[in-house]
Amino acid sequence: MSFPVITIDGPSGAGKGTICLRLAQALNYRLLDSGALYRIVGLKANQAGLLSDQPSAESELSAKDEDKITQLVNHLDIQFIPRQSGEVDIIVDGISVAGEIRNETVGSYASIVAALPKVREALLQLQQNMANHSGLIADGRDMGTVVFPDADAKVYLTASAEARADRRVTQLEQAGQKANYLAILKSIQQRDERDENRSVSPSKPHEEALVLDSSEMNADEVYFKIKAFCQTKGICFDQ
Ligand code: DC
Repeated sequence: MSFPVITIDGPSGAGKGTICLRLAQALNYRLLDSGALYRIVGLKANQAGLLSDQPSAESELSAKDEDKITQLVNHLDIQFIPRQSGEVDIIVDGISVAGEIRNETVGSYASIVAALPKVREALLQLQQNMANHSGLIADGRDMGTVVFPDADAKVYLTASAEARADRRVTQLEQAGQKANYLAILKSIQQRDERDENRSVSPSKPHEEALVLDSSEMNADEVYFKIKAFCQTKGICFDQ
């Protein structure tokens, strides 16, 4: 039996997280946050001394490094624990990493390891298995193009780098943290450059995807546009 899959791809800060959670709750589907997987691998690679603390200064990783990081992926015990809120907690080797993986530095580590073909291959099956038990909302960069090419509805949600940096600043300030707009904008632009131009699974819309620019839209507008699109693809919402 196959379950419905909705893929939401696009760059960081376009609003995918909020929309995916809302869709998962409305449809009672599971949520796959594939960016979290790459963040975990980046964090572990750094902890293992395979990635420097200054990711922007990172030169190309060698094939030997790629093999070591891939081995690390194959030995990770990653569990997705669905919470009542609809979110999925991620437990790595027995420890929840949900908070630790969210900062900009780990995001940069993630972007570097995500460009390694063997790492992507090692994570592929694990992601596909998430759709074996219930409907799935898959959040990432290559969900529609590579991981779930037969998904029922595919969306590419984007926004300008400036709008995304603004949102990140607001988010950090609301959490009581300091935020430097220009540093955040630069980090977003570097990450976009790497994610969109890598040779393997670059971040790009599937040809059948609904492409939505959320720069000038609020979360409700984005949600209702995506909901209406999913309905045209045969996805039924009770609410
Ligand atoms: O969505 P995010 O910011 O948590 O993703 C972190 C990094 O992981 C991002 O720079 C790109 C990479 N990524 C990817 O290459 N493929 C995915 N399916 C998800 C994320």
